[in-house]
Amino acid sequence: MSDEVKQRKIEHVNVALNNDVTAAQPASWADVRLIHRALPEVDLDEIDTAVDFLGHRLQHPIFVSSLTGGHPDVAIINERLATVAQQYGLAMGVGSQRAALVNPALAATYSIVREKAPTAFIIANAGAPQLIEQKRHAAFTAADVRRAVDMVRADALALHLNYLQEAAQPEGDRRAKGCLAAFAQVAAEVGVPVIAKETGAGISFEQARDFQRAGASAIDVGGAGGSSMAAMESVRAQGRGDTHTAGIGLLFRDWGIPTPIAVVEATQGAPGLPIISTGGVRSGLDAARALALGATLVGMGFPFLKAASEGMDALHEFLARFIAELKVAMQLTGAATISDLQRAPVVTGGATRDWLDMRGFGDTLRGMARRQM
Ligand SMILES: Cc1cc2nc3c(=O)[nH]c(=O)nc-3n(C[C@H](O)[C@H](O)[C@H](O)COP(=O)(O)O)c2cc1C
Repeated sequence: MSDEVKQRKIEHVNVALNNDVTAAQPASWADVRLIHRALPEVDLDEIDTAVDFLGHRLQHPIFVSSLTGGHPDVAIINERLATVAQQYGLAMGVGSQRAALVNPALAATYSIVREKAPTAFIIANAGAPQLIEQKRHAAFTAADVRRAVDMVRADALALHLNYLQEAAQPEGDRRAKGCLAAFAQVAAEVGVPVIAKETGAGISFEQARDFQRAGASAIDVGGAGGSSMAAMESVRAQGRGDTHTAGIGLLFRDWGIPTPIAVVEATQGAPGLPIISTGGVRSGLDAARALALGATLVGMGFPFLKAASEGMDALHEFLARFIAELKVAMQLTGAATISDLQRAPVVTGGATRDWLDMRGFGDTLRGMARRQM
């Protein structure tokens, strides 16, 4: 089991970097329009992108999404990502820590993150499906989860929700009953804030409400329209000649709630909880749209993975461009701060609007598009 998990960690990174594993349907950020201000009365240089997240001040509303660890060859990716997380004042997640929980020799591939980012907001990671007993393994104990947190001296713990990925994984876990109760128990006992984190299929109003009741401190909607874990697993299954599982991964490549919609669903379902908008965020303009819809942070996986695999220059270039784009969008909506942006009027159209109307969020939308007198 220990070698299997370790091998999977390197395969995920290689598959994502060498194949197109993006959902075929984009996240539809273009359906979300901010209203241009011809005279913004805000200097570009005075724009402040700092934001409070779970009691911590971040310099930018950016989460370097949980990606990797668990194989010696990926430690360099975590090292580079942590270096920029520290330098730019970002939040950063490590990938699933199961590999190091079953083989403690791999802990250094995760703890390098805390070494390189001593004061950044670091988020530990474990899978919600592993909190219950599965056919092939016992449930994680409270002590296991605590070890994951301690391994990176984490400020918070993300429990990832990846039942779509598990279904498209030849060796995937299939049991789900009892997982919400197990989530609630971890949230009550682990001692750090717990984030409910989808990984590409989104979180609905109802599920956001469930997670808030179960004690989640934040929700990462991990919506559809960016990296598709189903597509990633399909490539792996194909590589093993498992056409049955590969077919499931392909069929469900676009399954899920697109990210902008999931942001609205989750902000309504879990009022007051910080929402992270992850899934297909590819520019500072996408980020501005997500924040205007009510998100507190945007998360990105693949863009950070790709830049980190190329080196530090690529990471700096990516972040400089992204932050500059966000600031331009803020200036053109007259927002000097992230909280101004979160109050900016938003107009939605296309399939995004249809979905939100069908789900009864029409009034919320009209409120978001309100005129400012
Ligand atoms: C190679 C790879 C590995 C990932 N591993 C994890 C993981 O271990 N835990 C987790 O919560 N999410 C994991 N994710 C999901 C990301 O955190 C993120 O939700 C996803 O990539 C969507 O964002 P994107 O469209 O910006 O890539 C992984 C994503 C990729 C591409």
